Amino acid sequence: MAPGLAMLGFGHIEVGTITPRPQAGNPKPRIYRLPKDEALINRMGFPNDGVKAVVSRLRAMNQVERPYVLGVSLGKQKNTALENAAADYASILEEVFPYADYLAINVSSPNTPELRKLQGSNYLGQLLDSLMAVNRVLSTKHGQAKRPLLIKISPDLSWPEVDDIVQTAIDKHVDGVIAANTTIERNGLKDANQAQAGGLSGPPLALRSTQIIRHISKQTNGRLPIIGVGGIRTAADVQAKVDAGASLVQLYTALVYEGPRLPGRILRELSNNGNVVNRQT
Ligand SMILES: Cc1cc2nc3c(=O)[nH]c(=O)nc-3n(C[C@H](O)[C@H](O)[C@H](O)COP(=O)(O)O)c2cc1C
Repeated sequence: MAPGLAMLGFGHIEVGTITPRPQAGNPKPRIYRLPKDEALINRMGFPNDGVKAVVSRLRAMNQVERPYVLGVSLGKQKNTALENAAADYASILEEVFPYADYLAINVSSPNTPELRKLQGSNYLGQLLDSLMAVNRVLSTKHGQAKRPLLIKISPDLSWPEVDDIVQTAIDKHVDGVIAANTTIERNGLKDANQAQAGGLSGPPLALRSTQIIRHISKQTNGRLPIIGVGGIRTAADVQAKVDAGASLVQLYTALVYEGPRLPGRILRELSNNGNVVNRQT
């Protein structure tokens, strides 16, 4: 799937979130359109084939030179206790290290019970310590550079919580932050499907995500790289994230509504507006 997505114009692709062992995710239906809001609500719960199966796909993808940057998103198994979560993340890092250009540490999905608690300083510091240590060992073992580790955060954090995470990220020498994941807020929506449980994505998330990016960028004087995500649908949405301090952007929901021509359209619009569009292809 990633090579096909890259052909649409994406310069980087993030796969996952994956867990150590296969898991089925939540019962279907587990994803809903909110057409009146151009939004989605999902409660997928990390359905995936487990790290071993994913590694064999990643290995096949890496047999040819890739014209795109590949990130892998790491999560914990639903039934792993928070106290043992670090071992889940570390074991995935060990397996995917040779094939991934960067790792997204997903501690912000609303669909795995308690996962978001890993953003709290009592867990996050320890999680990052153990991932950093494993990253160092793997770098030596493979004779390759350490992989950039980025924390993906929730848009539902308070400002003090964001500040705590940013401080921990800096203290632990994390490479960046991905802001933001889906929200459990339901403000200002029109569609009846807003009553569904799960994480909301798309335009209703755009402003909050941009505010978080701007806040982090200001707090860190732009020194902590930020991947901006949430409600991007147009070149203007990309520009808003970049102006707020994002150095890279991602989108998901708009692709569902707008279809495969969307990335090309955004890239053309950005370059017509005089932007230098950094593409791998
Ligand atoms: C169906 C669906 C599944 C998602 N699964 C994941 C996931 O496994 N891990 C993750 O970090 N984010 C996941 N997300 C969140 C997106 O990566 C993104 O942060 C969010 O949707 C906001 O961006 P958007 O408004 O462009 O969709 C998912 C989003 C959707 C719609």
